[in-house]
Amino acid sequence: MDFNKYFYGVIILCQVSSASEADTTCREVIVNKTYSCEGLGLKEVPESLPFTTENLDFSFNALSALYSFTFSSLKELVYLDLTRCQVNWVFDEAFQSNPNLQTIVLIGNQLMYLADTAFAGPISLKHLFLTQTGLTSLLLVPMHNLDNLETLDIGSNPISVMQLLDSFPIKNLRHLDFQLNGIEKILTKDVEILRQITNLSLSLKGNSLKYIEPKAFYSNNFYSLNFAGCANKGDLSVILDGLVGVNTHILKLGTFDDVEGKSEITSNMLQGLCNISVAELSLENMHFFDFSASTFQCLSRLQKLDLTHSYIDYFPPDIGNMSLLTELILNQNSFENLCDIHLANFSFLTHLHVNRNFEKLQMGSGCLEKLLQLQYLDLSGSGIKSSNCCSTELKGLSNLKHLNLSNNDLLSLHDLAFPENNKLEILDFSFTCLQASKNPFVNLQLLRVLNLSHSSIDTNNRYLLQGLLKLTILDFKENHFHSDTIQNDSLFQFVPSLEVLILSSCALKVIEHQAFQMLKKLKHVDLSYNSLTTFSSNAFYVVNTMYLNFAVNRIQIIPLEMVNSISDNSIINLSHNPLACVCSNIGFISWYKQNINKIEDPKDTVCGTPRAVEGMQLSSLMLSCGMSTAMILIIVLIVLLLIITTTVVIKCYLKKRYQSI
Ligand SMILES: *[C@@H]1O[C@H](CO)[C@@H](O)[C@H](O)[C@H]1NC(C)=O
Ligand SMILES: *[C@@H]1O[C@H](CO)[C@@H](O)[C@H](O)[C@H]1NC(C)=O
Ligand SMILES: *[C@@H]1O[C@H](CO)[C@@H](O)[C@H](O)[C@H]1NC(C)=O
Ligand SMILES: *[C@@H]1O[C@H](CO)[C@@H](O)[C@H](O)[C@H]1NC(C)=O
Ligand SMILES: *[C@@H]1O[C@H](CO)[C@@H](O)[C@H](O)[C@H]1NC(C)=O
Repeated sequence: MDFNKYFYGVIILCQVSSASEADTTCREVIVNKTYSCEGLGLKEVPESLPFTTENLDFSFNALSALYSFTFSSLKELVYLDLTRCQVNWVFDEAFQSNPNLQTIVLIGNQLMYLADTAFAGPISLKHLFLTQTGLTSLLLVPMHNLDNLETLDIGSNPISVMQLLDSFPIKNLRHLDFQLNGIEKILTKDVEILRQITNLSLSLKGNSLKYIEPKAFYSNNFYSLNFAGCANKGDLSVILDGLVGVNTHILKLGTFDDVEGKSEITSNMLQGLCNISVAELSLENMHFFDFSASTFQCLSRLQKLDLTHSYIDYFPPDIGNMSLLTELILNQNSFENLCDIHLANFSFLTHLHVNRNFEKLQMGSGCLEKLLQLQYLDLSGSGIKSSNCCSTELKGLSNLKHLNLSNNDLLSLHDLAFPENNKLEILDFSFTCLQASKNPFVNLQLLRVLNLSHSSIDTNNRYLLQGLLKLTILDFKENHFHSDTIQNDSLFQFVPSLEVLILSSCALKVIEHQAFQMLKKLKHVDLSYNSLTTFSSNAFYVVNTMYLNFAVNRIQIIPLEMVNSISDNSIINLSHNPLACVCSNIGFISWYKQNINKIEDPKDTVCGTPRAVEGMQLSSLMLSCGMSTAMILIIVLIVLLLIITTTVVIKCYLKKRYQSI
């Protein structure tokens, strides 16, 4: 199971961190409030921590036992993380000096002893994490002073009975997590107390349940119930019988995708769902033995159904309209054609997900036609290829707002490619090879986000973006431009509302000086990872409250007038450029030092030339470009010489003249 991998990973981490004891000062995250002492091998709380500390990450240290004085200096503590701190004993009143403490994380400590008053002290302890602590029974957790608990996580322990006594704190309980324990049996009397709680989220994920007393949870009101992986070998009906009469918003019955020896579920096993009130059902990773209309007999009142990775390649056409279902998740299945889903059965859907399909998915023609309410459609990563997308494919979807066609094979978009979908707001084609005719998007006047990254789109087509009057975010990453240049009359002329423009990794060498003048609302421009040699801030309408990323380019010299106009609230990133630290760049370098608040990543903004200062941070560079003393001396000498010669010459001349009289 995944959890094991995690566990070993953590053990290795632990050894590494205890090996490096060099630096033992805690890291300040927020002055006087939040500190991290993670992985410092500490055996006690350092005195250097201010008494005002509220949040302390003390994970991966070596405390072994918690006494009443361990945290006595930190009276303001609210959050305390003691993950994998080798704590074995928690003695009486260990947190008595921490009245404000709300969260205690004890994950991954082998707890051998928890004193009766271990958690006394905090006025209102809300969240207690006892995951992977080796506790064999809930009875070992002292319930004293846990009355206000909202979260109790006791997952990944060897607990075999879920015995909730009368003293169990239920007043404010919202999350109760028993996942990955060894619970095999649940009796009505053990869980009776939960009936008094409404809106609880209960997880029993990964317990191999052999028996739940029928109606054990009768008339309980949950927010969410997670029984995923509980019926691995057994029979779903065991669980569903126990849940008869339950009311829950979410019910998870699937399993894990790495379980060996898949068990199959039959329509019969799902009969119990008829006696459970549930809005959202997940059957992830389940194998259906007889996927047919009868499978859906007790699912007709669902609002959301998740059949991710359920080994299905078609839907029965005759299941009847599921009129409450608004969201259907069919990721990682094996459909050949969207029409095989028979979506007419689901005509009230607002959200449909068919991503990472295992077969190359054909969108068919009019398969989605009945989904008049559909707003969100995710068909990403499904090997879709279409030579004339998308007018027939998306026919009828007049309410579609969000369309994800990313990570597919190849789409050819003709003029007016989305004739019936003019409510589209978000369109994602990233990592899908796109061929587009003159103006495919001309009717999409509400489109706000267009992702064309890695799409090999033809950027010579200057009408490509015509019609996108509301476009605010455009991602063009990894596309190429003719002559590696953004020309003044490029395709960006048609998107006047653009605020965010991503042009990173486009191999750009030149940006013409009027290129973005039309884009008066630009706020965020990413031009990193190109081959630009000029910091062309004059290509923009105005650099005011703007984020400009020119990192990883080939800029050496920046004329002062290019930065002088950058307003105070703007941020620029010039890191990883071979900046010239020479006198001809002194104007920019002086500006840089005075405007360091506008610079992102000054640590990586370094000199590229000359050799002597290569790699030096621009901010610590001392460059004097005034004249040297030797130079001044020479000039003074020359001037003196000049004066002397002139006087001598004049004297001689005058002498001659007077002599001649
Ligand atoms: C029920 O719990 C869920 C999740 O904890 C929460 O989002 C929701 O607001 C709660 N509903 C009510 C009515 O308290
Ligand atoms: C489940 O509901 C059906 C009718 O919907 C009813 O006949 C049956 O008795 C119920 N089963 C239980 C165990 O309550
Ligand atoms: C589209 O799908 C991909 C992959 O499934 C995902 O990473 C991306 O965030 C989605 N895009 C949008 C806009 O939701
Ligand atoms: C565009 O898609 C890529 C790949 O999924 C993603 O990394 C990027 O964040 C998306 N761009 C925007 C602006 O959402
Ligand atoms: C500056 O831009 C580069 C390239 O995009 C990026 O790696 C770096 O993280 C940015 N700096 C900051 C502080 O975000």
